[in-house]
Amino acid sequence: MTKISIIGAGAVGATAAFCIAQKQLGDIVLVDIVESVKGKALDMFESMPHFGSDSKVTGTMDYKDIKDSDIVVITAGFPRNPGMTREDLLEKNSQIVKTVCKNIKKYAPNSIVIVVTNPLDVMCYVAFKETGFDKKRVFGMAGTLDSVRFRCFIADELGVSVSKVDALVLGGHGDSMVPVKRLTTVDGKPISNVMDEETLNKIIERTKNGGIEVINYLGSGSAYYAPGTSITEMVKAILNDEKRIIPASVYLEGEYGQNGIFLGVPVKLGRNGVEEIVELDLGSAKKLLDESAEITKKNTEKLK
Ligand code: APR
Repeated sequence: MTKISIIGAGAVGATAAFCIAQKQLGDIVLVDIVESVKGKALDMFESMPHFGSDSKVTGTMDYKDIKDSDIVVITAGFPRNPGMTREDLLEKNSQIVKTVCKNIKKYAPNSIVIVVTNPLDVMCYVAFKETGFDKKRVFGMAGTLDSVRFRCFIADELGVSVSKVDALVLGGHGDSMVPVKRLTTVDGKPISNVMDEETLNKIIERTKNGGIEVINYLGSGSAYYAPGTSITEMVKAILNDEKRIIPASVYLEGEYGQNGIFLGVPVKLGRNGVEEIVELDLGSAKKLLDESAEITKKNTEKLK
């Protein structure tokens, strides 16, 4: 069976594992530095008959158990607490991601790596450099999460099914993210035809602050249900070779006028990972994407 390893069995990693196992997308290996990972994995495994899923879920503290994984998801690292920006995590989490990547390179050299640890775009860069994998096989989950939040708020405001709302949120995973108005539709109609500008702008602001809104309610730690299910969407798109257009943080070499950074843009995801970076006409949002890229560039420089 397909093997999916998830490094970091905290709130996000465990939620992703549970969702992926329910969909029987493959066998799952959960890796953490704390022994409780074994109990979490066993508990999950024992729930699988309820879903009719034969996915095996195992927990381990030993990296050699990720051997020959098809996909490795990195969620190891510290989450934000109230008052913190994603950038506050830069130093601590880059050390963790480096350690994780050394092990991925050693035990799962042919895997596709999905980075989730924040600050996302910079952690993708760390993973890309540390694994030395082709850029098609190292990318980050952020736009899927930001887009699903945006879709949710729009559907809620209009009282329509979430399935009627299509949207793409691009750019860096932070305050500079770019919900692209001209690519947002409700039942095929442009958003500007069905929602006034002021309401839409309020929703855009709420989307940008989507992570912090949850953090402030939680009191400690950050969101995990929407991140965990967003990881599942990406894993499914890869394993089912969906070749669907999904936003992801990818290494840019000229696309969208950017070079040498990871940034959220639309990509075609399939069995080989990022099969194409899709260049769409973003209209006035292109300027916002450029501004967002500048922030990511600065953070990447800080790390270097
Ligand atoms: N190897 C494996 N696991 C590790 C390592 C490591 N070197 N270092 C830390 N961990 C584990 C911790 O033991 C913990 O179980 O990573 C897990 C992180 O879980 P949480 O603290 O619950 O954090 P979570 O909410 O899951 O967020 C993880 O994802 O969305 C991002 O911003 C978020 O950077 C954060 C990451």
